[in-house]
Amino acid sequence: MAKGRKNSLYTGISEELSALMRTGWADTERHDLVLDEQAPYAARRRAALSARFPGERLVIPSGNLKVRSNDDTYPFRPYTGYVHMTGDQARDGALVLEPRADGGHDAYCYQLPRDGRDDDEFWTGATAELWMGRRRSLAESARVLGLACRDVRTAAHDLAASAASAVPTRIVRGVDPALEAAVSTDEERDEELEEALSDLRLVKDAWELAEMRKAVDSTVRGFTDAIGELSRAVATSERWIEGTFFRRARLEGNAVGYGSICAAGDHATIMHWMDNDGPVRPGELLLLDAGVETRALYTADVTRTLPISGTFTPVQRTVYEAVYEAQEAGMAAVKPGAAYRDFHEACQRYLAARLVEWGFIEGPAERAYELGLQRRFTMAGTGHMLGLDVHDCARARNTEYVDGVLEPGMVLTVEPGLYFQPDDLTVPEEWRGIGVRIEDDLVVTADGHENLSADLPRSADDVEAWMARVAG
Ligand code: GLY
Ligand code: MN
Ligand code: MN
Repeated sequence: MAKGRKNSLYTGISEELSALMRTGWADTERHDLVLDEQAPYAARRRAALSARFPGERLVIPSGNLKVRSNDDTYPFRPYTGYVHMTGDQARDGALVLEPRADGGHDAYCYQLPRDGRDDDEFWTGATAELWMGRRRSLAESARVLGLACRDVRTAAHDLAASAASAVPTRIVRGVDPALEAAVSTDEERDEELEEALSDLRLVKDAWELAEMRKAVDSTVRGFTDAIGELSRAVATSERWIEGTFFRRARLEGNAVGYGSICAAGDHATIMHWMDNDGPVRPGELLLLDAGVETRALYTADVTRTLPISGTFTPVQRTVYEAVYEAQEAGMAAVKPGAAYRDFHEACQRYLAARLVEWGFIEGPAERAYELGLQRRFTMAGTGHMLGLDVHDCARARNTEYVDGVLEPGMVLTVEPGLYFQPDDLTVPEEWRGIGVRIEDDLVVTADGHENLSADLPRSADDVEAWMARVAG
């Protein structure tokens, strides 16, 4: 943090200050660190990746801090594929799978080591520990990750040298520009590496499923916090709801897994409403779409649409119950062996039929569905894979994901919605500005699914009873 400012008040460092700074520090090497409980799982994930690319060198960087302005940076988010393959969250790192003659790979990890005390870097450098906080030493990282660790400051040089050999190299692009520049790789082949990393996250292992449960359980508590605030006079703004949920996310997890959508009134009709700066008014609905991300970076993604005053108006209830029934139809289609698209189609079919019945789109219902007419009011798809990323596995091959088949261990959202825009002249006035989405997180089991977020009331009656209970 010492770099990047032109107008420092100090003009230089005296030799005496430099000498003073270098002396008098205790040895803080930690000998108590042990193998992380995720490490054996990460090793199995690497073995699966290795099997896909025999004879090739694979480079998966963790990424660097991004500058917001001058010496101020955005919160760091390691590249998802790196986290999955290592269990690590360090910045400026990279996992390398180096091919062996037997077709397997040796894995090692580049890390930024601790600063020594024999030069001024530790207190003046761009990554100075004295400013940024202590890092792990390479020996500490090796013990925690169960991976050989090397100094990342030699990585570009090492990789450039080995890229000149006959071994083909692939790197995940767009994560670490310096490492990318060091290896000259083929864009299409690099994309295949990214696809493979996405594919390999489709089915969660036991450790990941436990994290998903933690994420959802914290999210349930965050929703309960937020609705508790609705009954208090202070909850007059979306800002307050956002802050209330965030406090739970930060306390129990790492943060929120994506920007919370705290959408009151007609903001609920805006799919990606994230300004969260509007009023929360009695009589309207609050659509709250939020998820806690665990400290291991797995996120939930849950939506409830709540009547701010505690009870739905008749039109709000009609819309809500249609979305609820659509979600029931969608969730029934989540089971092993079902096509991934089945739950989406079940929800959309149901909503198309209701929209025809209400006279908002032209029937018959099956024709409306085939033509996609319901999309004027349903807008988005009906779900997605969930995990380390909120829209997890987004780079997976279509054959494995949207055109694929559900398998036990997959975790996905089912989130139908209806959104009547405030200026939509095709619906009666009292329907305008109503947006309802209900979103739950499901894990596919051996014989069906489990709704991880089932602890949050979902039916209109249960939501009203819940709000009355919380209001006390
Ligand atoms: N919150 C983003 C989504 O529901 O997909
Ligand atoms: Mn979602
Ligand atoms: Mn969501």
